[in-house]
Amino acid sequence: MSVQINPSILSADFARLAEEAKAVQGADWLHVDVMDNHFVPNLTLGVPVVESLSRATDTPLDCHLMIEAPDRWAPAYVEAGAGSVTFHVEAAAAPVRLAREIRAKGARASMALKPATAIEPYEDLLPELDMLLIMTVEPGFGGQAFLDIMLPKIRRTRQLIDRHGLDLWLQVDGGVSAETIERCAEAGADVFVAGSAVYGADDPAMAVRALREQAAAKGADSPR
Ligand code: DX5
Ligand code: ZN
Repeated sequence: MSVQINPSILSADFARLAEEAKAVQGADWLHVDVMDNHFVPNLTLGVPVVESLSRATDTPLDCHLMIEAPDRWAPAYVEAGAGSVTFHVEAAAAPVRLAREIRAKGARASMALKPATAIEPYEDLLPELDMLLIMTVEPGFGGQAFLDIMLPKIRRTRQLIDRHGLDLWLQVDGGVSAETIERCAEAGADVFVAGSAVYGADDPAMAVRALREQAAAKGADSPR
């Protein structure tokens, strides 16, 4: 399991996205939060911005779709250049068909669970996915406090992934910071989204390096 750090541009300056992407050199992916003011009570950006951003940076884009009707919209984000597309299972009409379509178009397929959504009903779907996202805040806004009550779900999900012998990344998103990343890594997460903890730092690239070191020191492959 290798650690990946994905800064969320939700906490960046939207008028300077290309520069903000360069400010996090060394990040594994750029996390792009797409919100439609229906699935979540906030509105951010859509396909044209993802298209421009993918031309402006070499860092691959990890698009987190917090939108209704992802079945209709997710493929357009692959076409716009996203390397990974995450849809919410609560919004998807046909998650298996959608994951297959995302993969067929050439991106990694990922499914997200809100805090109140259990993983167990989706155990049989895991082989269809390249990544599973466990939200550690209610989706919609950056800068919220990490929900410790999600740690048991992260642990149970890691056990399911290992039991099935899957090469499935386990991402956490929301309130991930120097204070909380070690708990997430210990529980079995290996992909860490961080918005305010990276873009709120004086040196965002250094914040990425520091988070990576913390997570690697506590991750599954490290001695406990
Ligand atoms: C929240 C978004 C997150 C957000 C995280 O709904 O999905 O990606 O940017 O921001 P922080 O790290 O500040 O909690
Ligand atoms: Zn997100």
